[in-house]
Amino acid sequence: MNLEYSSALAEKENSEKLISQEILMLFDEEQRKEVADELNSLKGWDEGSYDHSLRTSEMCLEMVKRLKLNISDKAKDVLVKSALVHDLGKTSIDQEILNSDVQIPKEQIAEVMGKHVEDGVSIAKNKLGLEKELPLIESHHNYTSPTGELTNEQLESIELLRIADEVDAMLSKRSYKEAFSVEKAQHEIIDEFKENTVLGLEKLYEVVDFLIKFRMQLNQE
Ligand SMILES: [Fe+2]
Ligand SMILES: [Fe+2]
Repeated sequence: MNLEYSSALAEKENSEKLISQEILMLFDEEQRKEVADELNSLKGWDEGSYDHSLRTSEMCLEMVKRLKLNISDKAKDVLVKSALVHDLGKTSIDQEILNSDVQIPKEQIAEVMGKHVEDGVSIAKNKLGLEKELPLIESHHNYTSPTGELTNEQLESIELLRIADEVDAMLSKRSYKEAFSVEKAQHEIIDEFKENTVLGLEKLYEVVDFLIKFRMQLNQE
């Protein structure tokens, strides 16, 4: 990487990311301020998680606009809204753990991940008054199993959210890891989802490919 490019990138990384108005407008009027407030709390706690939430929701928005998906327009809105608020529960994880330069040990992952999912659902339900988004938030990692019966549309939406979440996480530099290469991210994600895909293999490849390309574009903006 030449110096000019790396300093332009650093500048970009320092610039403040704003919540997309288009996404915020998907929420009911009385929810918008609460959503923005909660995201700002997340930003104060862990800016990386805030940026990740914004990117994941933008990736989902672009995906539902560009790809032919088997879910209704209402379900598309639910997916994009869920993506924006899916990690609000991270404020319950110690900053020390979030910013640690070593990955959380395997034995602790379920506990730590489970906690932010549980707290995220509670924030979405009690503070934001969300309903349809709850099963998606609850299932955005495979550390918790969803409560209640899910429809096929919900299962597809959950898979789409999980893929977007992972694409962003893998292609981002974290305190404990470098960003994966495109090839490595693609390989790992396909490997993880192919056995139990609800989308079907063909759609899975299309979605992963699209999200990776779009995520790489966000890097260059
Ligand atoms: Fe999460
Ligand atoms: Fe996430």
